[in-house]
Amino acid sequence: MPQKRVVSDENATNAHYYQQSSERGRVIAVAWQELLKSMTSRESADRSKAATLFISAVGREVGFIDTTPTPSPKVSKEFVCERHVKFSQDIPRVLGQTVHVFVVSGSQFSAQDYRYLTGTLSDAGLGQRLFVVVVPGHAPEAKSESRRDQPGLVVIDSEEIKEMIVHPEPCRVFYRIIRQQTKMTLLQPYNHFGAVRSAMFFGRQAQLRRIMLHPESNFAIYGGRRIGKSSLLTKLHSELCKDTQNRPVYFTAQGVKDVLDFSNRLLTNVLQLHLGSRTSALAFDLERTRSEIQRHILVDRRRVTLLIDEVDDLVAVDQPKAEPIMNMLRSLNEELHDRFRIVMAGYRRLHERLISYYSPAMNFLTPMPLGGLDSESARRLIEVPTHEYLGYDFSEPKVVQMALDYSSRSPWQIQHFCEILVQLLAQEHKDTIEEDTVRQVYNDFAFRSEIVETTLANLSPVQMAIVCLFLDSERFTREEVYESFKEHRLPTDLPFLSRQLDQLVKFGVFTPPAKKNDNTFTFAYSYLPRIIGEVESPSYLLAEAKNQIKRRYRRWR
Ligand SMILES: Nc1ncnc2c1ncn2[C@@H]1O[C@H](COP(=O)(O)OP(=O)(O)O)[C@@H](O)[C@H]1O
Ligand SMILES: [Mg+2]
Repeated sequence: MPQKRVVSDENATNAHYYQQSSERGRVIAVAWQELLKSMTSRESADRSKAATLFISAVGREVGFIDTTPTPSPKVSKEFVCERHVKFSQDIPRVLGQTVHVFVVSGSQFSAQDYRYLTGTLSDAGLGQRLFVVVVPGHAPEAKSESRRDQPGLVVIDSEEIKEMIVHPEPCRVFYRIIRQQTKMTLLQPYNHFGAVRSAMFFGRQAQLRRIMLHPESNFAIYGGRRIGKSSLLTKLHSELCKDTQNRPVYFTAQGVKDVLDFSNRLLTNVLQLHLGSRTSALAFDLERTRSEIQRHILVDRRRVTLLIDEVDDLVAVDQPKAEPIMNMLRSLNEELHDRFRIVMAGYRRLHERLISYYSPAMNFLTPMPLGGLDSESARRLIEVPTHEYLGYDFSEPKVVQMALDYSSRSPWQIQHFCEILVQLLAQEHKDTIEEDTVRQVYNDFAFRSEIVETTLANLSPVQMAIVCLFLDSERFTREEVYESFKEHRLPTDLPFLSRQLDQLVKFGVFTPPAKKNDNTFTFAYSYLPRIIGEVESPSYLLAEAKNQIKRRYRRWR
C-alpha cells in the first residue's frame, strides 16, 4: 500500500533527524516517531493517543501546555485527534487565545481536504480563531492554498516537523510557520496605544526595583504622554500581586470632576476589592473617606499600594482648594506607614507640585522622572518579538542598530516603528529584515507624523521655543539658549530656563553634556530635527510658542 510505504520511509529518515536533533528537539522527535508508527494502526484510540502525545511534546517546546479535548467544532473523523492548546506566553497575539490542533490520519492532506476543513470551521463560526493541522506526510497543495488565503488554518507537514526537530529553537520555527500562513493582523505583537501587555513589556528594571524594594516609600512617576507611565503602573500591579502580602489597587484619576468625585473613586476602588462588592455613590466627604479607608486597612493584614494614574487631573481639582486630597493621602500614609503607600503617575501638573515648597507632595512623594528605555531594553523590544515571536531574521547585526537609531529609545516610538516594519514584511512575504525595509519604515509618513504630534504635545511653550530655535544646531550650550531667548525677546530668567532644559533631558528629548566641563546639549533622537522640519514649519511653531508664552507670562516684557 502506497500510504504505508510513505509512513515507513518517514520512520527511516526520522531516525536520522533524531540523531541530529537538538536537546529540545529530541522530545518532539520521539513523539513524532510514535505518531508516525500509530498512523498504520487500525485502532483509532492508538492514533489518538499518539497524536495527543505529539501535541503535548510540541507544546512543551513552544510554550503551550494544556491539551484538554475541545468542545469541538464538528469535523469528519479523518482528523484523528483534535485538542485545544493554550499558550503559556501570550505572544504572538492570536496564540494568547486557544489554538486548536488537528492531526490528520494518514499521510495525505490535499487542497480539497484543506478547503473542506476551512469550510467546516467557518460554517461553525470559528473564522477568527487559529487552527493548526499536522500532516504526517507532505501537503504542498494544501500549504500553498493556505499561504494564498491566509485564514486562521495553518498546515504543518513532516518537512517542517523535521526542521523543528533539528533546530536549536523549535519554538521559533513553529512561530515562523504560523506567521507564513496567517494574516499579520492576527499575530501583530506590537501596539503603540495604551498600557502594554506583559510579554511586550521591556526594561524599566531600575524603576521597578526601586519601588519594589522600598515598600515604605511613596513615588511620583512623571513623564510625557506615551512615555510608558500606565504600562509601568500595570507592570507594578502584576509584580505586587505575586506576593499575597500585597494588595495593589490601580485606578485612574482621568477626568475627575471634583474632590468628592475623587474620594468616591478612591473608596470604590479600595473597598471594592476589600469587600468584594460595589460601593459606588457613597458620596463621603474627605474626612469620612479617610477614616473609612483607615478602618478597612487596619482590618486587612495586607499592604495596600495605591497606583493612581493620570494624576494631573487630580491636581487640577485639588490645587485650587489648597490640596485637601494630597493632604489626606499624606496623612493616611503617615498613620498607616508601610500598610498604605502611594505610587502615582502624571506629568506637568504633578511635577509642579513636587517642586513647590508649599505642597504636601514635597517630601512625601519621591520624584521619579520617566524617559526613554535603556539601550539594551530598546534593542530587545526590537529583536525579541520580531526574531523570537515571529521568526524573522535580521540580514546583519547593523540592521538592528539602524532600526534602533531610527526609532530612538522611546518605547511607543519603537513599538510603532516595529508595527509598521512587521506589516511591511508580511505584505512583501519576506522572512529576512533588510536595510531597505528598515529605511522604508523610517520614511513612512504615519511614523513621522505621529512622532511630531506626540513630541510637540509633550512640550511646554518655552520648551517648544528651545526646540525650534536649535533645530539646525548639532549642539548648543545653556548660554546659547539664554542668548537666543534674549535675542527673540523671550523670558530670560536663568534658573527657570535651566529647569526647562533639565526637564527636556529627563524626558529624553536632549542628551546632557557628557563631561563635567563640557556644556553642550544635543538632540537625544538625532533624526528628530529633520523629521520635525519635514512635517511641520518650524517658524510657524516658534511663532505659536511665542504667542502662548506671551499669554501665560503677562508681566513678561
Ligand atoms: N516598558 C515598555 N515596554 C514596551 N513598550 C512600552 C513600554 N512602556 C510603554 N510602551 C509603549 O508605549 C505605549 C504608550 O505607553 P503608556 O504606558 O500608555 O504611556 P503613558 O501612560 O505614559 O501615556 C504603549 O502602548 C507601548 O506601545
Ligand atoms: Mg497613560
